[in-house]
Amino acid sequence: MCFKISHCFLLVALATCFFLLQPADSAQPAGENKLEIFSWWTSGGESAALNALFDVYKKQNAGVEIVNAAVSGGGGSAARPVLQTRLAGGNPPDTWQTHPGYELIGQYVDPGYCEPINELYKTDGWDTAFPKELVVNLMTKDRKIYSVLAGIHRGNVLWYNTKLLEKNGIKVGDQMTFDQSFAACDKLKAVGVPALGVGDSGIWASAQLFENTLLGVIGAKGWVDLFDGSMQWDDPKVKEAMKLFAKMQDYLNPDHTALSWDQAIKALMDGKVAFSSMGDWADGEFLKANLKEKEDFGWVSHPGTDGSFIVVADGFTLAKGAPHKEAAMAWLKSIGSKEAQEAFNPLKGSIPARTDVDRSKFDGYHQWSMDSFSKDKLLASCVHGEAAPAAFQQALNDAVTAFVVDKNIDNFANTLVEAVKESQSAK
Ligand code: GAL
Repeated sequence: MCFKISHCFLLVALATCFFLLQPADSAQPAGENKLEIFSWWTSGGESAALNALFDVYKKQNAGVEIVNAAVSGGGGSAARPVLQTRLAGGNPPDTWQTHPGYELIGQYVDPGYCEPINELYKTDGWDTAFPKELVVNLMTKDRKIYSVLAGIHRGNVLWYNTKLLEKNGIKVGDQMTFDQSFAACDKLKAVGVPALGVGDSGIWASAQLFENTLLGVIGAKGWVDLFDGSMQWDDPKVKEAMKLFAKMQDYLNPDHTALSWDQAIKALMDGKVAFSSMGDWADGEFLKANLKEKEDFGWVSHPGTDGSFIVVADGFTLAKGAPHKEAAMAWLKSIGSKEAQEAFNPLKGSIPARTDVDRSKFDGYHQWSMDSFSKDKLLASCVHGEAAPAAFQQALNDAVTAFVVDKNIDNFANTLVEAVKESQSAK
């Protein structure tokens, strides 16, 4: 397969009918002192962090009324279709949350839904404050920049309940291998504790577990090869990852299909499950619940992925035909400010996209993640729409849905091989 586009994050190379349900306000004529912001940030940690962004904005822009058009559903699984309907219907929010890479460019820039925001990068010194390669490779088309990042999540983190592990005599060091993690799972299973908490009512959380496991087996180089077409989805190494992913299904919480990602994290906090492989938006949930690092919860890289950082970055756009363009520009300017980045990220679990923030304002997890970002291989997430076109992202979710039921490795692999071909011929 070849998802070779210039903005495809192979950051290794770099560092190495909702239309009808729209909020009534969005139909206001331009010039109204309003701003409609679309996102999927509705969990406890996500809302707290979003509110922090609103607060900074309001301080800088008194008198503008914010219309929070968030649509719940982790990973944007429910929000994105709503957004597409609105965009196609000519009813855009002023600005919306998006991941860089294929999602931003393929879903929003190419169809003409976004305005470039280069002037902000020029006038606000962002040219130097944000990692240039990220901006250039993932958010730029024909020299026009289309988004500003609020923060950068690390996708490949394995979280655990410290007390529950201690109680069961399980020690986790700085890293964990697959063998160690399965040994821990067996120990927990023997005492009736589901080891691995998953909330895949939106299947993406299972796809996330698979994505992390895949990286753990094929490594950063394999990741680059897989997404630039040099490695195929039926490669023996990919199949090995599928096998491990199948094995993991034996240790899941029995109610996983009924839970959302944040409910699974809550189960971890409550000691009902021991581990969860989830991006560090999970940290936002721990913080919101006032849990203490190390004492209540801990983390390591998902097994096998130490040295790699799956980037799940969150940016905001400027809508073409934004009903409140001035307010939207001010919003983007605010997001890119140090003040907003320092207010938002400590609550969200992500690290600031700006590299010139005051590190002392961040806790131990964030320090760990910032270190990882600066030294590890940076890789684009497929599950979060960065590394491959939306059609393939969907095909992966569908294939994961089928696989967790039939556990047929050949079907899983062949489906993805075909999905690559289809997404290429659709170009
Ligand atoms: C990701 C997003 C994160 C977080 C997560 C769970 O796609 O980048 O900010 O919101 O979904 O909803």
